[in-house]
This record gives sequence, structure tokens and C-alpha cells, in this order.
Amino acid sequence: MLPYIVLSCIAWLTWKLVRYASASKSQIDNLPGPASPSWFTGHLLKLYDKQGWEFHRELLNHGPVFKLQRTFGRPILCVYDSLAMHHIAIKDQHVFEELRWLTDMSIDVFGPGIISTVGEEHRKQRKLMNPIFSAKNLQQITPVLYEVVKRLTHGIETLVKDGTAEVDVGRYMGRAALELIGQAVIGHSFDPLTEHHSHPYAEALKGIVPAVYALSSYFHVYSPLRSLIPTPLRRPLMNVLPSRRVKDVLQIVDTVNTNAVKIYTEKKREVESAVQLGEGRIATGGAKDFMSIFLHANARASERDTLSEEELIAQLSSLLFAATDTTSNSLARVFDCLVKRPDVQVRLREEITAAKHVHGGGDLSYDKLTALPYLDAVYKETLRVYPPTPLRFRETRADSILPLSKAVRGTDGTLMHSIFVPEGTLVFIPVQAANTNPALWGPDAGEWRPERWLAPLPDALTEAKIPGVYSHLGFTFAELEMKMVLAELLSAFTFEDAGKLVVWNLSEVVFPTVGQDSPTPAFPMKVTAL
Ligand code: HEM
Repeated sequence: MLPYIVLSCIAWLTWKLVRYASASKSQIDNLPGPASPSWFTGHLLKLYDKQGWEFHRELLNHGPVFKLQRTFGRPILCVYDSLAMHHIAIKDQHVFEELRWLTDMSIDVFGPGIISTVGEEHRKQRKLMNPIFSAKNLQQITPVLYEVVKRLTHGIETLVKDGTAEVDVGRYMGRAALELIGQAVIGHSFDPLTEHHSHPYAEALKGIVPAVYALSSYFHVYSPLRSLIPTPLRRPLMNVLPSRRVKDVLQIVDTVNTNAVKIYTEKKREVESAVQLGEGRIATGGAKDFMSIFLHANARASERDTLSEEELIAQLSSLLFAATDTTSNSLARVFDCLVKRPDVQVRLREEITAAKHVHGGGDLSYDKLTALPYLDAVYKETLRVYPPTPLRFRETRADSILPLSKAVRGTDGTLMHSIFVPEGTLVFIPVQAANTNPALWGPDAGEWRPERWLAPLPDALTEAKIPGVYSHLGFTFAELEMKMVLAELLSAFTFEDAGKLVVWNLSEVVFPTVGQDSPTPAFPMKVTAL
């Protein structure tokens, strides 16, 4: 049996190699790009290098349309041309889909939720979820978020009661982001934000990325193998795999699912009894939580758009997962920028204090907070220069033609006005390069300068169809919570360098650590009470 399997594998591999070698060269092969360091691994190790910042910065020298290499000399189409990005992220998003192994893995971990589904299924989920993040709902949730941020402020106050103390701002941002989204999505508290507290659901959600990435060497075989195994047999087979790492992932999956089902069941009961009472809405601390709104919306949706119970449960963990690390590490980055530029920190504090004064010293409303111009500039400039999620990949699910805003010359001298992208092409959007492209943002594009947002932006930028840099499903919520945390903490404390070697690690979500070897997000800062 074993020799037969080995022979079949060799035959399959030989056939693949012959087919690849004899295939006619595509337009993508004809694109310019940096030389590949290895035929086997291409540029992948450089792209995923935790400290590969220089490599990502240098991609600006090759764009806006070029190629890199993946395994076995196959090309990766790299694009930050604005028109092409518009097609990838908006116009033809049904063709330029998430990577297959990533959606397969997400389905196995979370179930069929918003981050795991593609195509019609995904459209249906997004249609139901979009209204949840409306300005009206965010206004309603604002007092709930203030309550959490005040607990956060109080937690830090107890640490700096003698005036100044070293505080791990990175860790506090992580705890706060989870509590904020927990309260907003399910009206559930995961963390009092005073003494340390651990919740099994929260711990499991935090453990997903490290546990899954410990299996990264198997990613390329995951989807093909998975598709060969019938669904009912997948879990029993995984249970008997003699691997500690697989068992860790399975344990996390079980904890996530058990807790999601428990919380969903409670939430559903609350909504049903509210409907019976004729209230039509659920109150959590005076405001609706997103899951309740979602359940109501689902109950009212047409049959075609209704989500199954399995899909609703999957949204719970998907939302908590998508919202936590992204927001907390982005917040840590803003504080890092403010520590490096004390003049900006002072000016920002002045804007916030003045606005609070004008409004009687109380909490700024949703409208007032999100409209503060300098706070908005600092927030946007930080996400622009330091994109929290720089590794954006897509995989084409059909042949497509990608139009370009400016023609690109191939290595054989041909001028290409568009690129033919065959099905199965791996596409990389170098977000770092897109966000700091001098052709759009001007000659100081690489500089962190919040003031640029207070003057008219360059025409080249406003005319370009840049998609999604500041917009996606959860961004309105992220903006609200980040601005609120900044406004409240800057009103209470000053932040300075604590003299620790903090490095930013390149990953699906960029995170800070003390030293290069630590896997745990941390950012100690010297915090002084005002
Ligand atoms: C600064 C904070 C955040 C960053 C940088 C961020 C970044 C991203 C990125 C890059 C994607 C993938 C988009 C794509 O490839 O098309 C994404 C998807 C998503 N994010 Fe966020 N996110 C943040 C905060 C949040 C928050 C607070 C929530 C929820 C309240 C959230 C919910 C989602 C959801 C549901 C998706 C999937 C959307 C879809 O597939 O349609 N995110 N996020």
C-alpha cells in the first residue's frame, strides 16, 4: 500500500512540474520584480519575516504592479495601483476572494461566519451585519463603551497612584479591546479591568492565532487534504492524529464553540422573551447589543437572507476575534507615536480638554468625539503609515482582467494597460506601499504627519479610487472605541518612553513585544497621572 501511495505522489508531482514548465508564460510572468532568493520558497520567507519591514518598504521601488515569487517559482501578482485595487477589493471582490486555506481553517475553527464564508453566503451575512454598525446603533452603544473605558482609566489610576509608574499599555489595550467588543456584541463582561481576570472563552480566542500558526508548515496541504475527507469523518480523524499541536487547536476550537453556543442560547432566550413581552428590543445597560440587533434583523429578514442558527453562532466568535487584536495593537501604535512626538500628544490633549470644557466637562457624545479634527488626523495618520494588517492576500476564483490606472512595461518591453489574471492566482496587496505611495500622498508620504489631514489632500489621492484603507465592516466601531480610549486616557495621564526595547512584529496583525523573541504583545510606557 505504502509504495503505491509514494509512487502516486511522485507521479502527481512530476505531472505538476511538467505542466508548469511547459505552460506558456503569462502577463504576470512578464512583470518586473525583485529577484527571488530561492526557487523553493520564493519571497515567502521575506514577506512573512517578523522583522521584514525593510523588504516591505522596498516594495515601493517595484510598483505599482510587479511580481514576487511563491513556492516552486510560481508568481505572486503584487498590486497597489489604485484602479486595480478598486477592482480587487470592491468591483470584482467575488473573483478576488480570501485564500482558500484561510477560509477552510476559519470554518473549522469558528463555523460558517462572516470571516469564513465567500460568495453568496458572505454577501448574505454582510447584508444582515452592515446595519449593525450604523451611526444610530453606535450612538446607542456609546454609554456602554464609556463605562468600560472609565473602568480602564480607573484600573490604570490605581497603578499610578504615586504619580508615575511603568504600565504595560499594550497589555491593557488588549484587555480593554476585548471588554469593549464583549460588551458591545453580547452585552457580556470578560474582564473587570481592575485586578487580572481570565475567562476561558477570551483565553481560547487569544490562543487561536499562535496555535494555528504553529501548524503553518501544513497550510499548503490543508485545503487539498480536507476536500478529500467527507465532513463527518474530519473531526474523528483529527482526534486520532498523534500531534500535540493539532490537539491544542482542537481544544481551542471546542472551548470557542461551547462558549459561543452557551452565550447564543442565552441571548436568543432574552430576545424571544422580549418579543413575547412586546418590547421588540433588548436593553443591556440601557443600550442594545449587536447580537440582539442581529437576532432581530434575522427574524425580520426575507427567507433568502435569513441566517441559520449555525451561522448566527459563528458570528459571535468571528466578531470577537476580528475586533480584538486589530484594535488593541492599533491603539498601542497610536500611543507609541504620541510618545515619540510629545508635541502631538500635548496638542491632542489640548483639543480633547477644550472640547470637554465646551460640553460642560462631561463625556463627549458620539458625534462630538468622532468629529474632533486633530484626534481624527492622528487616528488616520497612524493607520496610514503603520497599517495594522499589512499582509493582504487574495486568490482568484475565476479568470479576470485587471485594469490599471497607468500602463506598466513588461520585462520584454511590452506595454500592458491591463493584466490577465488566471484562476488560482495568488495576489498580494502591499498595504504599506499603497499607504505611503508618494505618487498619491506627496513627497513626504512616508512621514507620520497628522497635520496633512487638516489641509486639503493631494488631488492625485482624492481622484484615485483607493478602496478600503479606512473602511470595512467594523471600522466605524473601531474608530469610535479607539478615539474614546485615546480621549479618556489622554485626559487623565501623560505617556512617555519607559526605556524598554520594544519591537513591532510583522504578522497578520502587527503587534509589539519587549525584545524580538517574546510571543506576547506588550508595550511598557512611563505613565504619569495628570
Ligand atoms: C483598527 C482596527 C481594525 C483593523 C485594522 C481591521 C482590519 C481588518 C481587515 C484588514 C479585514 C479584512 C478585510 C478584507 O480583506 O477585505 C477585516 C475584516 C473584518 N473585520 Fe476588521 N479591523 C479592525 C477592527 C474591527 C472591529 C472593531 C470589528 C468589529 C466590531 C471588525 C470586524 C471585522 C469583520 C466582521 C471583518 C470581515 C468583513 C468581511 O469579510 O466582510 N474589525 N478587518
